[in-house]
Amino acid sequence: QIPHVSLCVSCPDFEKVAKSVLPRKSYTYASTSANYGLSLKGNLEDWGRITFRPRILRNVGDVDARRKIFGYSSPHPFYISPMGTLGAIHSEAELDVVRGAVRKGVHAVVSTASTRSTAQIADCHKEELQRCKGSPTELFFQYYMPVDRTKAIELIHIAKQAGYKGLWITVDTPVLGKRTTDRVLQAEEALAVGMDEEPASTWETGEDNAFAPAMGGRPGAGQLSPHTTWEDLVWVRKEWKGPIVLKGVQCAEDAKLALEYGLDGILLSNHGGRQLHTAPSSLMTLLEIKTYCPEVIGKLEIFLDGGLRDGADVLKALCLGATAVGVGRPYLYALAAYGAKGVERVTDILAEELAQGMRLLGVTSLDQLRPEMVNASRLLNE
Ligand code: FNR
Repeated sequence: QIPHVSLCVSCPDFEKVAKSVLPRKSYTYASTSANYGLSLKGNLEDWGRITFRPRILRNVGDVDARRKIFGYSSPHPFYISPMGTLGAIHSEAELDVVRGAVRKGVHAVVSTASTRSTAQIADCHKEELQRCKGSPTELFFQYYMPVDRTKAIELIHIAKQAGYKGLWITVDTPVLGKRTTDRVLQAEEALAVGMDEEPASTWETGEDNAFAPAMGGRPGAGQLSPHTTWEDLVWVRKEWKGPIVLKGVQCAEDAKLALEYGLDGILLSNHGGRQLHTAPSSLMTLLEIKTYCPEVIGKLEIFLDGGLRDGADVLKALCLGATAVGVGRPYLYALAAYGAKGVERVTDILAEELAQGMRLLGVTSLDQLRPEMVNASRLLNE
């Protein structure tokens, strides 16, 4: 018996319920992080280490949190982050994510490593849009560049054909990070069948390697390309005319390079703390960019993800110059527990916290947010 969805009142509430309903292997896949967990911990904690500087007596009767991502409007300045292999989480997988997203007007980025095909997810999105005539939302495509150039181009064309509006190229995964709890589980499984050593291939497995139906079958391990460079962005740009975002920028120098290479946006992210051990939180990276290359912020769309668990976290990112932010695990855990209803509920919770936060901060629209509305000295002065 799982608690009624209304009893989940904050994002972190969904994890407990998800843990109780998911097979251990699926929960491990979702919750695992790099090495012994410091990247993930930093993501979660850094949002709490900067505080607001609220303004008072400003008539905050009506608030509007509407925001555009590359011209596509949403009532919310946050979107659903791409997460692979959602079939391990819920039988409706990516389809319920998209249904929940459409019902609440939130945009979603769809993973290359999705369980359902790129086209099927897009079709489901269109059907749901027709069914409920709410605020139109869009889908963007998260792109893991296949090693094989022909396949890489084909995948871009599939996404274009299916109507995805932007390409989020993941660049923090030349190889898979060390996913610690996964490794424990694999070692246990190996022991259970009488092997006293982990199989050698375990380093290579995980969601990010599953090129799934998008590529017409699952090629298995070793598909991530450690050979990709900035120069590859040149041919990608020829194949994809729409907006391109680099997902996984982690320092000021690369933010500058992204500008030089003519990209449209950067997503500051450490992959939910699943890749490099002690990678910077996206908030740390944003503060670094503000210090060393602030000009980038006006010229590229800036997105952040990692550890955002409250509308107030979203607000802080926006004060510091983000266009919008991505939310990952809360949506995944809610999907596990409640399917599309859970996805809707997470959106409602974040939207309510955000609107309340805006009023308490003294603003009525997102364009009134300013860097001086947060105090980041605790993070900057260490
Ligand atoms: C991810 N992430 C991810 N990123 C990506 O570019 N392609 C992918 O296939 C996946 N898959 C994936 C699976 C799971 C289970 C998780 C938790 C994460 C990373 C994701 O897009 C995002 O960067 C983080 O999840 C954001 O952090 P939070 O919100 O989960 O803390």
